[in-house]
Amino acid sequence: MSYYKIADLEQYFKHYKKSVREPRKFWSKIAEENFIWYQAWDKVFEFDMGKGDIKWFLNGKLNITKNCIDRHLSKRGDKTAIIFEPNNPSEEPQHISYNELYTRVSKTANVLKSLGVKKGDRVCIYLPMIPELAVTMLACARIGAIHSVIFAGFSDAAIRSRVEDCGAKVIVTSDGGFRGEKTIKTKEVVDKAIEGLSVVEKVLVVKRTNEPVAFNDKIDVWFDELYEAAEASNIAEIMDSEDPLFILYTSGSTGKPKGMVHTTAGYMIQTAYTFQNVFNYKEGDIFWCTADLGWVTGHSYILYGALLNGATTVIFEGIPTYPNPSRYWDIIDKYQVTHFYTAPTAIRSLMTNDYSYVTSHDLSSLRVLGSVGEPINEEAWHWFNDFVGKKRCPIVDTWWQTETGSIMISPLACITPTKPTYATLPIPGIQTVLMDDKNNEIQGNQVTGSLCVKFPWPSIARTIWGDHDRFVKTYFSDFPGTYFTGDNALRDEVGYYRITGRADDVVIVSGHNLGTAPIEDAINQHPAVAESAVVGFPHDIKGNALYAFISLKVEGSTRDRDNLKKEINQLIADHYGPIGKLDKIQFVDDLPKTRSGKILRRVLRSISLNQLDNFGDTSTMINPEVVATIIENRL
Ligand code: PRX
Repeated sequence: MSYYKIADLEQYFKHYKKSVREPRKFWSKIAEENFIWYQAWDKVFEFDMGKGDIKWFLNGKLNITKNCIDRHLSKRGDKTAIIFEPNNPSEEPQHISYNELYTRVSKTANVLKSLGVKKGDRVCIYLPMIPELAVTMLACARIGAIHSVIFAGFSDAAIRSRVEDCGAKVIVTSDGGFRGEKTIKTKEVVDKAIEGLSVVEKVLVVKRTNEPVAFNDKIDVWFDELYEAAEASNIAEIMDSEDPLFILYTSGSTGKPKGMVHTTAGYMIQTAYTFQNVFNYKEGDIFWCTADLGWVTGHSYILYGALLNGATTVIFEGIPTYPNPSRYWDIIDKYQVTHFYTAPTAIRSLMTNDYSYVTSHDLSSLRVLGSVGEPINEEAWHWFNDFVGKKRCPIVDTWWQTETGSIMISPLACITPTKPTYATLPIPGIQTVLMDDKNNEIQGNQVTGSLCVKFPWPSIARTIWGDHDRFVKTYFSDFPGTYFTGDNALRDEVGYYRITGRADDVVIVSGHNLGTAPIEDAINQHPAVAESAVVGFPHDIKGNALYAFISLKVEGSTRDRDNLKKEINQLIADHYGPIGKLDKIQFVDDLPKTRSGKILRRVLRSISLNQLDNFGDTSTMINPEVVATIIENRL
């Protein structure tokens, strides 16, 4: 029996059971039958959850780009691999065939090699959503370099910390980029980010806006000049299953971002498998995921999962509201998109527009809808279902994380009956459990607990770059013997999962995971600020927004509050990125604290939610008198 494609619900349960009883057989059959290898593995997996040591397909040899591109050439060489829709709808789109993709990736791989990039080197990519972003990722994978994509909305400080952390010797960027009405100055941001950083040897600059940029001949190189001269074929590097494929940074609840390291074989197999089954992919489908390639959703489903299945994937440079709020519907109509995978925050924002923007478009090509990144609220789910899917397209509410590499809990389109706001069932191979505070697995249904996974899966991140201890502490220590997701969940009467929220200090704003600690660090850099605490509160469009409680130094207390607010938000934009800007800022005399000086964020969270009747245990609070004033002045 082949395990790659699930035909119906009965088979799903059969495969699930098989994957738990005989995980070796289950995954090795998938790996064997659906991918090309230079050399087969000699052991399917090996792990020690306590130490966070996990390996899959040991000693297998492969190259993911051979699986994404080369093997399709004989059958699908002329098929479109990537449709590029530019920001400006009157600019010519690009239809890049698999043959063309092979050439572009080979040439770019040769460009990187000519700059001295070798297997194992790190390459940071700070590019807008243009085909060169996807091509550069694949080119890195082709030569065994580890790509680390930095979302092109991040600030110079955020780039700097990532480049320093992973020791990237090359950064790939562009002269600029287009986003709606705006032009973003990617090169300028990179220049600032790497000032005085000796680790970076070269900055490769792609031309997009053709606006003049500062150019330092010692480091900067124009991409197009090298690309023209580069050879059009490239022999893929032979990689070990466990060689790192990429590093992707995600926010932690404390301190600096975590560089999650994903390796080659396990990641490849599970992204391909989930793409095929979660989305019920069929040859000829046109898949559009609206995420940015700078996030894991873009990595796994715009790029790797789609290409591994020989699909056609859409890359959209712009934003949903430019030149008007029907842009998404235009694109679906224009390319006859069959799969539309987006985020609840986008749906909520589109919902605020007149229905006619949607109803005036032909969306009959759509077959499957998907949601990812945060819990989807009931209203958004119904709007998506009724107006976009016309009640005939299943919605796959996919739960997963940067750390998990690919989808973990989700309906399988056209197979699993959906239920609004529920991610439903774990995919085969994923042994989800709910744990209580005493580290006991909660049995049965209609229960809530901390969402954990008690057996490793192929695409789990292997470590945090340069900090394995943090990896173990963050994911394998709270509930020993399992991987802790950081999320709380409930399991309903039939065993369906619903994610109820984060258990830590991460707030999901517009689908982006934001750690409150680095935002507080940015606020605290303001000379007038003594201390700050940032919490999330519900927001109609963004899902959550940020609320900061800030105490001022004596010398800062006379400052004009409106100016202070502006300066603080600017500091956040500079040091963290504009996505961390605060919606509410409340200046307070003091923050509620425990005797040991810890800020009682729980109390502030309750105040921001207007839940004033129960702050939990406040017996350790040293300054209860400040709470009444904070409540009185709450925003
Ligand atoms: O809290 C969960 C939420 O997003 C977190 C992971 O964020 P990130 O690593 O940025 O990856 C996002 C894209 C995979 C999770 O811990 N989350 C993600 N998907 C869902 C979700 N919450 C509820 N429902 C989902 N479908």
